[in-house]
Amino acid sequence: MESIKTFTLKNGIKIPAIGYGTYKITNPQECIDSVKSALNLGYRHLDTAFIYGNEEFVGQGFKESGLKREDVFITSKVWNTERGYEKTLKAFSETLKKLDCDYLDLYLIHWPAVSAKYSDYNELNLSSWKALENLYKDGLVKAIGVSNFTVPHLKPLLDCEIKPMVNQIEFHPGYLQEETVKLSLENDVLVEAWSPLGRGRLMDNPILQDMAKKYGVSIANICISFCLSHNIIPLVKSAHVERMADNLKGLNLVLKEEDIKKLDAIGGNLGWSGQDPEKIDFA
Ligand SMILES: NC(=O)c1ccc[n+]([C@@H]2O[C@H](COP(=O)([O-])OP(=O)(O)OC[C@H]3O[C@@H](n4cnc5c(N)ncnc54)[C@H](OP(=O)(O)O)[C@@H]3O)[C@@H](O)[C@H]2O)c1
Repeated sequence: MESIKTFTLKNGIKIPAIGYGTYKITNPQECIDSVKSALNLGYRHLDTAFIYGNEEFVGQGFKESGLKREDVFITSKVWNTERGYEKTLKAFSETLKKLDCDYLDLYLIHWPAVSAKYSDYNELNLSSWKALENLYKDGLVKAIGVSNFTVPHLKPLLDCEIKPMVNQIEFHPGYLQEETVKLSLENDVLVEAWSPLGRGRLMDNPILQDMAKKYGVSIANICISFCLSHNIIPLVKSAHVERMADNLKGLNLVLKEEDIKKLDAIGGNLGWSGQDPEKIDFA
């Protein structure tokens, strides 16, 4: 089996260039089987979170795959109810127990605390971050980062002793979050794309449909290659083995510059995107 391409984080850790997303796979056996199938097909990067309610099953799927721990990159995230130094440390230890691992490859703050909800939002984010810095120093996690941090939330962390290595955000044709991506990449914060297929909704887009026909590939392949063309790692979820396999093919597809521009120009008018952390009611 061809080994998966990798990106390198600012601390030298290698991260596989496509991740297998597990959001909404909550049925225990389905989750175990999906993770096993993904690993069997060649995925080496699993994305979960405390709030997905499936860390235990992701861990079990990994174990049943028979792969070595060092050959699979595992990410989880601390949920919004667990912000602050002590609570974050405790949440991490529960996550590790559920996954039944000795360490994580990447631990993220799932959503920033925001000014719309907390007058001390910045202190709160910094105190969660301090916990991640200490977990990193203790060797319990190989890399640390954030998720859904836009410019005002990310900037203060760029002055910390250990800077975020990853920012996981929604990214796909039609929703590019240019300012956040620019600030992240300029500071060597690797960007990961959640919902790289727009949670499946991009399948109906006529521009993508035409492009898929032109290249003789699936729309999902176009979306995955589009992320990579921006140096962004797609985290893609499917509960179907044939789709998981097809999605891996996106890694080897190279889009022409003119087509990347066409996809860039789809713009943010799709209506359903954009969970702005300042506006959502669960941040
Ligand atoms: N940090 C965050 O706040 C955050 C938020 C959301 C997601 N995430 C992460 O990002 C991952 C991916 O995002 P996502 O699950 O929202 O959306 P996504 O990967 O963009 O889309 C998943 C949807 O697309 C369908 N699909 C997958 N491959 C396909 C293919 N080849 N052809 C047609 N349809 C296909 C899937 O259906 P089937 O499963 O039925 O095949 C599913 O309905 C998540 O699983 C999670 O790990 C993180």
